[in-house]
Amino acid sequence: MKADSGNKRGLWGSRLGFILAASGSAVGLGNVWKFPYVTGQNGGGAFVLIYLICIAVVGLPIMLAEFTIGRRTGLNPVGAFRKLAPGTPWVAIGFMGVLAGFLILSFYAVVGGWTLAYAAKALTSNISFFSSPDVAGEFFGNFISDTPMVLFYHTVFMGLTIAIVLRGIHGGIEKACNILMPTLVIMLLLLMIRSLTLEGAMAGVDFYLSPDFSKINGSVILLAMGQAFFSLSLGMGCLITYASYLPPEENLTSATVYVVLFDTFIALLMGMVIFPAVFAVGMQPTEGPSLVFTVLPTVFAKMPMGGLAAIVFFILLAIAALTSAISLLEAVVAFFIDQFGWDRKKAVWAMGASIYLFGIPSGLSFGLWSDFTLFGKTFFDLADNIASNYLLPLGGMLTAVFVGWWWGTDQAHKEIERHETTFHWGKAWGFLIKYVSPIAVLFVFLGRFF
Ligand code: PFF
Repeated sequence: MKADSGNKRGLWGSRLGFILAASGSAVGLGNVWKFPYVTGQNGGGAFVLIYLICIAVVGLPIMLAEFTIGRRTGLNPVGAFRKLAPGTPWVAIGFMGVLAGFLILSFYAVVGGWTLAYAAKALTSNISFFSSPDVAGEFFGNFISDTPMVLFYHTVFMGLTIAIVLRGIHGGIEKACNILMPTLVIMLLLLMIRSLTLEGAMAGVDFYLSPDFSKINGSVILLAMGQAFFSLSLGMGCLITYASYLPPEENLTSATVYVVLFDTFIALLMGMVIFPAVFAVGMQPTEGPSLVFTVLPTVFAKMPMGGLAAIVFFILLAIAALTSAISLLEAVVAFFIDQFGWDRKKAVWAMGASIYLFGIPSGLSFGLWSDFTLFGKTFFDLADNIASNYLLPLGGMLTAVFVGWWWGTDQAHKEIERHETTFHWGKAWGFLIKYVSPIAVLFVFLGRFF
């Protein structure tokens, strides 16, 4: 298939290109940084189990629904709901998605900046510097409270995101993902071997794999569900936008299964890298956002060629974060291009700059503004919590209700089966999207209060 033929918004260059780009959106800081630390704070194995259930009964069906809406309409989320349900309030899902994308990218770019800073540190100093978790923790603490440094790397990260999105979808996004994904997997496998062979690693494996349900309550379940949405890039129309660049012959069901499996594989693998190491070096799994940034450098310091491994790892992580950040900005930008007729350049600069400015308070949340809290949360935590645990699940639930009950699963089936692909698990999907996914999200929301 030919890119850009007869479609001025652009199309993906190949089938694999789309799958890689959607995986590029899904795999990012959510898997490598956030999944280990929320798992560590919320009971290990039991959290992982609930997370996996959310992926299967909520994440997977909703991803297929988003892909279907995107390809059917060829539009951004707002335009898509407007086209399928003209003159109805369903378009609110699209607006909520644009808002969620804006919020997420604002704090995501801050952590993206941290990864760049660590890549720079690994390039310019000897890894043996991180001789113990205490030293690594102190370095991290000093770094995130160093306002000029944090802002510098935040600016670089957002600048790179803007630069790639300016080049359009397959010029920048697709190419970046093609090399990144396979390299990331190899790197994580090597790291896992190193972690598992450290002395005392088995306590970490135990924490990670054996469920302790005493830690589970309504808010932990909400966190696990929020994490599933965040990690799969669901609930804000990001994947509607990506699928809008798809040619009709794409097989949506296999793309969905592939992206879900790949994203989940990376998150689980990352747990196997982190937890054995956490216990082996004598740290606590409940450390929070600093977890990966303190544990990994200590592990690198104990590895042959650890300096090189650290450089490669943090560069890969920065690129994985970039490919997700790109998808967040793209969803916001596509809205302004399609709905207001802005050209790409204007939309990217205006939105990129606004998101950047809005992210500054998040960047300062660990230093200068750490005492400034709302509802007991820093700006950073608040942006993350509102977007990941409320806006995304709500957007996902409404998307499921829309596809299951308003637009109709028959219409969705027709779109999925365009060009002779048979939808083998169509009935099961119809049941999940109509009943199971929306009711599950609703229960989790209600359960939050008990
Ligand atoms: N899925 C990304 C990650 O795991 O890092 C984050 C993300 C990207 C969330 C795009 C939402 C989104 F629409």
